[in-house]
Amino acid sequence: MKELAGKTAFVTGAASGIGLGIATAFAQAGAKVMLCDIEEAALSAAVEQLRRTNADVDGVKADVSFKVELAAAAEATMARYGKVHILVNNAGVSGGGPYGTWTEASWNWTLGVNLMATIWGIELFGPLIEHHGEGGHIVSTASIAGLISGSSNAYNVSKYGVVALSEGLRRELAPRGIGVSVLCPGFIRTQIMNSRRNLPRRFAEAFRPMPTAGPLAEQVSMIRERVSQGIDPIYVGELVREGVEKDLPYIFTDLEFEPMIEARFAAIKQGFDHIRGRTPKQ
Ligand SMILES: NC(=O)c1ccc[n+]([C@@H]2O[C@H](COP(=O)([O-])OP(=O)(O)OC[C@H]3O[C@@H](n4cnc5c(N)ncnc54)[C@H](O)[C@@H]3O)[C@@H](O)[C@H]2O)c1
Repeated sequence: MKELAGKTAFVTGAASGIGLGIATAFAQAGAKVMLCDIEEAALSAAVEQLRRTNADVDGVKADVSFKVELAAAAEATMARYGKVHILVNNAGVSGGGPYGTWTEASWNWTLGVNLMATIWGIELFGPLIEHHGEGGHIVSTASIAGLISGSSNAYNVSKYGVVALSEGLRRELAPRGIGVSVLCPGFIRTQIMNSRRNLPRRFAEAFRPMPTAGPLAEQVSMIRERVSQGIDPIYVGELVREGVEKDLPYIFTDLEFEPMIEARFAAIKQGFDHIRGRTPKQ
């Protein structure tokens, strides 16, 4: 999608952080943007902020982990703008924890927002993008944790899922005129470490409080520090705009984790090397 001007984008998790950065970059490129988020007050503030720059934007509230709410948001977008060209599945939460701290609620919440909402988004918006025949693009926000696993198991699984989905759909949707990119950010200065502000009441009771001492507390505090010193989400938004314009399969934000990803590839290659030259028994 070489030209964003005049096109319409739907961005989830757009009231804060990376989503707001993407909405801002798209609006600055002349796209109309429907911002979608679960947080109503932050959403109104984000829409107001962008409108002050003369951007053609609007907002729709939805808990994207509920397909029915996402479907209503898609309807609202069609009613407001008539067409959608770009879908950005970006809403996400830093739910879950390491082995020994799992709860069913933390798996359900994390997979629901990070992965299932991405699946529903593609199912609902794919046909809308295809319908007008003008082509389009889908960007889904995974993470570097979608390519190398950290210690938050549910988060890793959700983000590997987003990478897997994007890689497969890129091949499937190219003949239909839809580009697919996956965004794999490193540490970005957002509110991700305060994700529990959006923890639905139905999951709240099953959630364990975060430990205040010990290795897990230290790790969380280190990540919190890295995020607070992280990359500007507006810069990430600009990288995403470029990724859409150039139809990049992977959009990265920095080189910090490249050696760790190379180490993963090396470990995979070691597995192949182990059996090289053998004839599999049939
Ligand atoms: N910040 C980082 O360092 C980092 C790194 C890698 C990946 N990511 C990913 O980036 C994406 C955006 O997160 P962020 O860092 O900007 O955090 P953020 O908390 O600043 O923004 C996330 C937005 O998603 C919204 N949201 C949460 N649950 C929702 C739901 N059920 N329905 C609709 N909206 C919902 C929040 O209200 C918020 O506006 C996430 O998918 C996250 O996993 C972030």
